[in-house]
Amino acid sequence: MHRTGKLAMFLQALCGLLLLAGLVAAKNDVKVLTVATEENHGLERFLRSAKIYGIDVEVLGKGTKWTGGDMNLPGGGQKINLLKEKLNELMNSGDKEKIILFTDSYDVLFLASLDDIVKKFHAFPDTRVLFAAEQFCWPDTKLATQYPKTEVANPYLNSGGFIGYLPEIYEIVNYKPVSDRDDDQLFYTKIYLEKKLRESLKISLDHNSAIFQNLNGALSDVQLKSNSSTETWPYIENVVTQERPLIVHGNGPSKLTLNHFGNYLAKAWSASEGCALCAEKRIELKDDKLPTVMMAVFIEQATPFLEDFLDQVLTTDYPKEKIHLLLRNNVEYHETEVDDFFQEHSKKYATAKRIKPSDFITESEARNIAKDRCINSACDYLFSIDSLARLEANTLRHLLSSGYDVVAPMLVRPGHAWSNFWGAVNTAGFYARSSDYMDIVYQNVKGVWNVPFITNCYLAKMSVFRTPATKSVTYTKEGIDPDMAFCASLRDAGIYMYVSNELDFGHLVNPETYDISRTNPDMYQLFENKMEWTTRYLHEDYHRNFDEERKHLMPCPDVYWFPLMSTRFCAEWIQIMEAFGQWSDGSNNDKRLESGYEAVPTRDIHMTQVGLDRHWLQILKDYVRPLQEMVFTGYYHNPPVSIMNFVVRYRPDEQPSLRPHHDSSTYTINLALNRPNVDFEGGGCRFIRYNCSVRDTKPGWLLMHPGRLTHFHEGLLVTKGTRYIMISFVDP
Ligand SMILES: *[C@@H]1O[C@H](CO)[C@@H](O)[C@H](O)[C@H]1NC(C)=O
Ligand SMILES: *[C@@H]1O[C@H](CO)[C@@H](O)[C@H](O)[C@H]1NC(C)=O
Repeated sequence: MHRTGKLAMFLQALCGLLLLAGLVAAKNDVKVLTVATEENHGLERFLRSAKIYGIDVEVLGKGTKWTGGDMNLPGGGQKINLLKEKLNELMNSGDKEKIILFTDSYDVLFLASLDDIVKKFHAFPDTRVLFAAEQFCWPDTKLATQYPKTEVANPYLNSGGFIGYLPEIYEIVNYKPVSDRDDDQLFYTKIYLEKKLRESLKISLDHNSAIFQNLNGALSDVQLKSNSSTETWPYIENVVTQERPLIVHGNGPSKLTLNHFGNYLAKAWSASEGCALCAEKRIELKDDKLPTVMMAVFIEQATPFLEDFLDQVLTTDYPKEKIHLLLRNNVEYHETEVDDFFQEHSKKYATAKRIKPSDFITESEARNIAKDRCINSACDYLFSIDSLARLEANTLRHLLSSGYDVVAPMLVRPGHAWSNFWGAVNTAGFYARSSDYMDIVYQNVKGVWNVPFITNCYLAKMSVFRTPATKSVTYTKEGIDPDMAFCASLRDAGIYMYVSNELDFGHLVNPETYDISRTNPDMYQLFENKMEWTTRYLHEDYHRNFDEERKHLMPCPDVYWFPLMSTRFCAEWIQIMEAFGQWSDGSNNDKRLESGYEAVPTRDIHMTQVGLDRHWLQILKDYVRPLQEMVFTGYYHNPPVSIMNFVVRYRPDEQPSLRPHHDSSTYTINLALNRPNVDFEGGGCRFIRYNCSVRDTKPGWLLMHPGRLTHFHEGLLVTKGTRYIMISFVDP
């Protein structure tokens, strides 16, 4: 018993060893070859996918000059010649049963191990060489008629991938001389179409994409499964042939689709693991070895809340001695503000340069200047920021440590799907939506995404732009916007651009309605740029009104007192009224009213006159109504209605006070806009029934009291200066 047990164990171990030896042999028996004459992002991605699946690839032609034609035009004979050289060498070493797997590189990804690929190859009956197949007969469409008649998904040969035995492939590549500039696909196609050769060499096509999936023309056949319930890692499925391809090729115009798939495939990302590729690429920033960055700031259009933007430039979390500042402003309206900023802060930076409106430099020229200055100097990165981009202070550091060469922080208009990237482009080069665009925008998926267009803010590593292949990168192209020209030239140069939504990096402001003919135009941006607006104009203690333990101030019976708007709001609000200047004459005749008659007239300006009525009603709805509901419980009216919204001006030589009266309202609000005993003397409001006055009003603080019956009141005499208040009769 004992002995046989040992023997069995021994035999088992032996079998294991033999099996292992067999596997190793199988691996050595397959040679994986590709051609790449330059190192670029496509090659990097291809080699990574090989590494993920444990595939050793030999890259042919590295460092040699590519003479095989433009990548987008016919050509590629050089690939055959490089392959021929290698196969001659292998034939001499004599292993006749060696398997060769050849693929293109820049637009190809491995999706499986070599064992899986070879297994599927062996499953093809009577086949010694298997070529990829596609839907288009290319480059010579006339040859389509010469193909053997088959009803299949992919009838025609594609030379971007093939697998087969060494002797047969050797014979194929040596069949005829081929010039570097000849088309490789045409060369292989002609051999395949010779029936005798096809049969003697046992050449087949992978019509169903069992191994090779070409994406051109097949986009509706191929589905990316990025969140399967059974598999951790995303994969692609050909839903027509029911195959799960093992090698994917973004041939022809499908390169951008491959870029999209590449965000997920080859274990780049998964729903459970997140962005594995991001983790691989991340590098550590060492504080004593921080790269030098050119921060190129572009103010190309009148921009809401520019002051906040300049502040953000200044407070970027990065040592200024490591930053070359290039400050470009092309908006005369902003020039004083920008110039003040530059005079005050430029000396803090390593270097600083200005481009002014008076320099008459176009946007694309200005952007090229920034890029070229950075390329031609000791500058490691270009960090380009448009004035619409509002960033968290740590954005630059995060992007630098991401390890990506060209990467934008994802920025979105709050509450909208408008962002600073496109998920796809259409054939005309304009915006198209990708299937995952909304998931990225809403951060349902997080990671760093290869996309065809980025704008408004991005980091670019300059070493990538110092190669011959990238000489053509430019912001200038007739008839299209500079950012579109830039991204198109990056795509042409094979430079990948990415958008990161790993963190909340900030957002975009919306300049669409920004009207610089207004006084204080930011004040009018409540709807388009609410985030900036509330930060600047809402009272800093507004939200504390709702604290549980807060005791509400009640200076007179049922008269409540709340902090509502900031002092800056008050000052700018007054400036808008005074700039408008058409105060009413204080008579009973008032053409602004439907009735034409005002019983208790004041010197005032209505919000309808300065284009702020919609804004003020929104303030009532969003910020005043919740206060009312809190203190006058049980009364709900949403949205509050108010027809009379106006600023009143009291001064001794005009109208210094207002006689006792009732307001025609359910409740009245009275917002103080300036300071008693500083801007004016006297003034205040007296509630007659209670013999109670409020005199020590505070700018930005709101008095709220019932209208009509109980709160008969008067405006007290102003003896000096000018007093301004903002009044609404709510729910008349
Ligand atoms: C993936 O699918 C699961 C279950 O259907 C879902 O709960 C999850 O949100 C999905 N994740 C992503 C990133 O789409
Ligand atoms: C109202 O109050 C003031 C002081 O607060 C007082 O001097 C005055 O006599 C009061 N008037 C009436 C009618 O009670």
